[in-house]
Amino acid sequence: MYPLDYIEPVFRPPSEGRSLILQVTNGCSWNKCTFCEMYTDEQKRFKPQPVDKIDAQLMSLSTAGYPVRRVFLADGDAMALSTRRLKEILQLIKTYYPDVQRVSSYCLPRNLKKKSVEELAELNALGLSLMYIGCESGDDEVLSRVEKGESFASSLEALTKIKQAGMKSSVMILNGLGGPELSQQHALNSARLMNAAQPDYLSTLVVSFPLGDERYQKNFAGKFRLLTQQELFAEMKTLLQALELDKTIFRSDHASNYLVMKGVLGKDKTKLLQQVEMAMHQPGRVPLREEWQRGL
Ligand SMILES: C[S@@+](CC[C@H](N)C(=O)[O-])C[C@H]1O[C@@H](n2cnc3c(N)ncnc32)[C@H](O)[C@@H]1O
Ligand code: SF4
Repeated sequence: MYPLDYIEPVFRPPSEGRSLILQVTNGCSWNKCTFCEMYTDEQKRFKPQPVDKIDAQLMSLSTAGYPVRRVFLADGDAMALSTRRLKEILQLIKTYYPDVQRVSSYCLPRNLKKKSVEELAELNALGLSLMYIGCESGDDEVLSRVEKGESFASSLEALTKIKQAGMKSSVMILNGLGGPELSQQHALNSARLMNAAQPDYLSTLVVSFPLGDERYQKNFAGKFRLLTQQELFAEMKTLLQALELDKTIFRSDHASNYLVMKGVLGKDKTKLLQQVEMAMHQPGRVPLREEWQRGL
C-alpha cells in the first residue's frame, strides 16, 4: 500500500491490488445505481482532485523511491474528467514514472459520450490502456430498474469506442441483478452485449446488499429477492451457453461468487459449463465459497 492521503473508502478492481491507486477524483459522478453503496458516504461527494495535489502525491512517492509499475485512476469514474485534465494527469505520471507499464480506470459509458475515438487514442498513447466498465447487464429492463442510466446501445457504443482507440476493456456483469423474474433475459441480453463487444476481459460478480436492499426494492415494487445458489448457477449456465466470444479472459473469482471459475472464452466454454453443471447436480464435487468467505 502506498502512503497517500486518501479520502476513504477507496475501491479498486481485484486485479489492481498491487497498483498505485491514484485518487484523481473523489466518489462517483453518477452515484444513482440502486445496488451500489460504494460512494454514498457524505465525504464521498463527487469532486475532481486538484492537479496540484496529484502532482505533490506523485512527487512524494517518486522522491521516496517507491516503485510504480501500474497506476489505477480512482475513484468510481475518473473518466468523467475532461480529456484535457486526463492528459495533464497522464503526463504527470510519465514525468515521475517514465517506465510505468499500465494506467487504468473505471469508466461509465456516459463518460465517453463527449470523447472521440481520436481523443481516447491520444490518452492511450499517453499510457491509459485499460478501462473497467461496470455494464452489470445487457438487458434494458434490468438496467432501468437498477437506475444504471445506461442501455444495451450506450454500453455497446462505449465498448466499441474503447476498442477502436486501441485500449483494452474489462467488463463486469452482476449475477442475480434482475432477481428470479428477470434472470433469463438478464443472462441472455448480457451475453448478447458481450458477443457484440468482444471485450478483452469479462468478470461476473454476484449482487448483494450488505447495507440492506431498501433502495433496490423501490423499482421492484418491494418484490425483489436474491437468487438462491441453484438459481445463480442456472443463470450462469444460461449466460455461458449464450456467450460466443473469440478470445476473452473470463473470471468469476471475485469474493462475491460462490463458484470460482477462470478460463478463456470461447476455448474453455465446455469446461466452464461442466463446472457449473457439476455445482448444480453433484454438490460436494466442486468447492464452493462458504457464506462467511464471501464479500464485496
Ligand atoms: C466500485 S464500482 C465502480 C464501477 C464504475 N463506476 C462503473 O459503473 O462502471 C465497481 C463494481 O462493483 C460492483 N458492485 C457495486 N455494488 C455492488 C453490489 N451491491 N453487489 C455486487 N457488486 C457490486 C459493480 O459491478 C460495479 O461496477
Ligand atoms: S456502480 Fe459505478 S456508476 Fe453506479 S453508482 Fe456505483 S460507482 Fe457509480
